[in-house]
Amino acid sequence: MTSVAEAAVGRVERRLLDGELGLDAHLARHGRLPLLDGSQIIGMARDSGLTGRGGAGFPVWRKLSAVAEAGDGSAVVVANGAEGEPASGKDRALLAYQPNLVLDGLQLVAAATKARAAHLYAPKAALAPLRALLEARRVAGLDRMSVTLQAAPDAFVSGEESAVVSALNGRGAVPADKRIRVIQAGVGGSPTLVQNVETLAHLALIARYGAGWFLSAGTADEPGTFLATISGAVRRPGVVEAGYGVPLGELIAAVGGATMRLQAVLIGGYHGGWVPADPALPVSRQALEPYGASPGAGVLVALPAGACGLGETARIAGYLADQVAGQCGPCINGLPRMAATLADLAARRPRAGLAAEAERLARLVSGRGACHHPDGTARLVLSAMRMFQADVAAHLNGRCLATEGYR
Ligand SMILES: Cc1cc2nc3c(=O)[nH]c(=O)nc-3n(C[C@H](O)[C@H](O)[C@H](O)COP(=O)(O)O)c2cc1C
Ligand code: SF4
Repeated sequence: MTSVAEAAVGRVERRLLDGELGLDAHLARHGRLPLLDGSQIIGMARDSGLTGRGGAGFPVWRKLSAVAEAGDGSAVVVANGAEGEPASGKDRALLAYQPNLVLDGLQLVAAATKARAAHLYAPKAALAPLRALLEARRVAGLDRMSVTLQAAPDAFVSGEESAVVSALNGRGAVPADKRIRVIQAGVGGSPTLVQNVETLAHLALIARYGAGWFLSAGTADEPGTFLATISGAVRRPGVVEAGYGVPLGELIAAVGGATMRLQAVLIGGYHGGWVPADPALPVSRQALEPYGASPGAGVLVALPAGACGLGETARIAGYLADQVAGQCGPCINGLPRMAATLADLAARRPRAGLAAEAERLARLVSGRGACHHPDGTARLVLSAMRMFQADVAAHLNGRCLATEGYR
């Protein structure tokens, strides 16, 4: 997924994917970072309302303050570009198009937390050009802190923050016990800040253009733009930039429109939720909440009429059940059973209590793992049971509304 829309959606000016900017073009376009001290950086993160773009949407300034306080000069900062989600391409696009914004953002959070070390964690294929760029930035005297690169394995959970820390500690990229928070004890036992690469790129722009500029896009509750990766039944699957609250129809139009009538859209990726394909539906946390969805890391998958939503959900649940570190009960037992139950439902192999069993297992695994992988998988399954309720009833009677042309 490398296609990048030529323009941002709606009235938003293009901020992040503004062509492929090498170091000279980046400096010509944005100039050097202004020299800011830690409290100025944390203050501007707070005033802008910037939240994380890696999925959870946590306020950046709070994490910065917590790590700065806990670290007291020993903190470690990490740019997370793992992007293990198969339907996402925005972090790879950002690292290819505007890596300097990400590296600028990493310098800012290193300064804000008075860090002793900075790492960039990204898929192996992205590392060679980044290595060359880091050398060019060193020669140009841009970076106060040197950055080391770490390869992220290609697996769904490799970008979960405790998995990132574990990889940097020389162990496998698998999530660790969530009772030990990485902001307290992460890389080498030091307080560690893990921030998504898109989040860092936004921070680099805010440092130059100000919190007020950032607030001019998005909604009052969710300011700024986000990168959306749109795939499924659309003409030009790819990455676009839009302000939060953008109507779903505008996002779909920005990738050439739908290839056929849509029945639903998966928002928030494989850990997200299904919503109706209503062109007027705002893509914001608030508007998506009733569907159990949120913009998450900006991943959208368009489901065409005629495709079985239960079948697609069963396929994703099967993939997610395979992507586990095999450490915790809900993943070892719960996810495979939940995926198998959903697969039976999707394949119209009805038995007494099948639908209730899928829901029961989804609720059972929630909140029980060392990381949020079971919760995200359960969220997807529960949203499918709600969104495709009529299909569930039909499948239990051996029929499929979608493939019979009713959806
Ligand atoms: C299973 C799982 C996979 C994740 N994968 C990624 C990822 O690939 N990239 C990412 O930035 N965050 C990922 N996250 C979220 C991170 O744990 C963490 O919240 C994020 O990197 C923090 O950055 P942000 O606050 O800037 O969003 C994942 C979370 C879970 C539960
Ligand atoms: S909940 Fe699952 S994915 Fe997360 S650490 Fe445990 S076994 Fe691994």
